Amino acid sequence: MPFVPSQNLAHLKASETVAISTEARRRKAAGENVLDLGVGEPDCDTPSAASEAAIKAIHDGLTRYAPNVGTAELRQAMAGALSRMSANRPVNADQLIISSGSKQALFNACFTLFGPGDKVLIPSPAWVSYPQIVHLCRAEPVSVAGDPEWGLKVSVADLERARDPQVRGLILCSPSNPTGAVYTAAEIRGIAEWAATHGIWIISDEIYRRIHYGPGPAPSLFDLGDDLLERSVIVYGASKAYAMTGWRIGGAYAPPPVIKSMAALQSHTTTGANQPAMWAATTAFNDPAVDAEVERMVATFRRRRDYLVARFQEQAPGVEFIEPMGAFYLFFRVDGISAPGLPRLSGATFCEQLMREEGVAMVPGGAFGDDRWVRLSYSVSDSDLEAATDRLMTFMARQGGAV
Ligand SMILES: Cc1ncc(COP(=O)(O)O)c(C=O)c1O
Repeated sequence: MPFVPSQNLAHLKASETVAISTEARRRKAAGENVLDLGVGEPDCDTPSAASEAAIKAIHDGLTRYAPNVGTAELRQAMAGALSRMSANRPVNADQLIISSGSKQALFNACFTLFGPGDKVLIPSPAWVSYPQIVHLCRAEPVSVAGDPEWGLKVSVADLERARDPQVRGLILCSPSNPTGAVYTAAEIRGIAEWAATHGIWIISDEIYRRIHYGPGPAPSLFDLGDDLLERSVIVYGASKAYAMTGWRIGGAYAPPPVIKSMAALQSHTTTGANQPAMWAATTAFNDPAVDAEVERMVATFRRRRDYLVARFQEQAPGVEFIEPMGAFYLFFRVDGISAPGLPRLSGATFCEQLMREEGVAMVPGGAFGDDRWVRLSYSVSDSDLEAATDRLMTFMARQGGAV
């Protein structure tokens, strides 16, 4: 009898971003000259103070089960980091739960809050895992298309049009993967007030908050008063800003009863996060020297962003793109690139041809819900970025049309 997965996986698709990176790695291993701009992680090493803290924890025997919600030290350190990012607003460490990456925090939050019969609004384009996670909860993801005139962000009016009595949640991501767009403080407040009025839960994925090109960290739900956080879960983690993707440390801030349910859920799945990794993250969040490294990393991403934007403006003036205000992605539109009379390129065809003809990996926008676009990541070395941009511009010029 052939294997048929259970109904739990009825909607499951493997992550396309992971698939692209796997293919790029395979080609590199086979000796091809591939430049991978599909990556979703910082290209630098974990700050050494954080790594040393994990090594010390191992030598000190801190290798057993830790408290299910995370060590007190890490919860305090993350609360401190979150508080400093929001003008020293009080952040209660008891309302934080630590998980194996922010992806697990997002899953736990959705599984705790949503179930059959519930709808969850997801501004689109959206990070690949949100709709999948909502499906795994047997709830229904509902895409709300972002406005191209507005960095593909959604407004309260867009959300209101999608609202019906079944809508129980909204997953917001700012700075956004895949667009790099950032919601302003006023936009966040407007959305939070709308959600509070209608009793809708907001899950705010703020994993890229530190990687922001405006002043300070990106605006957050934490900048609002406690009254607007009563039906909110704020997700943060060490992966992106601290170059710690492989350590798998993330966290969620939520009202106490939600934390209690998420802890119970986690106690039956992963038990909790990896203990030495938690000590590494504690140092990452606490150590001012690590903070200075994060600042340098953000400055590097900003410089690369400026470089790419300048090259698009100079060499591909007809190609629409979202000017990134955070994260490390550039989202650009490819359906208008081909010369008149030729078929319009989809993101999938564009990426497939770009890989085959120029050896550059990028992610088709279809992975994020709109295949007229393509996402490139500039979290690669300056020399790789320059070479990949040369190849990209050559490729787009060959397609004619807007370039
Ligand atoms: C928007 C967004 N949220 C969450 C995650 C998950 O991060 P992690 O599980 O490494 O903390 C990612 C990773 O790519 C992401 O892009």
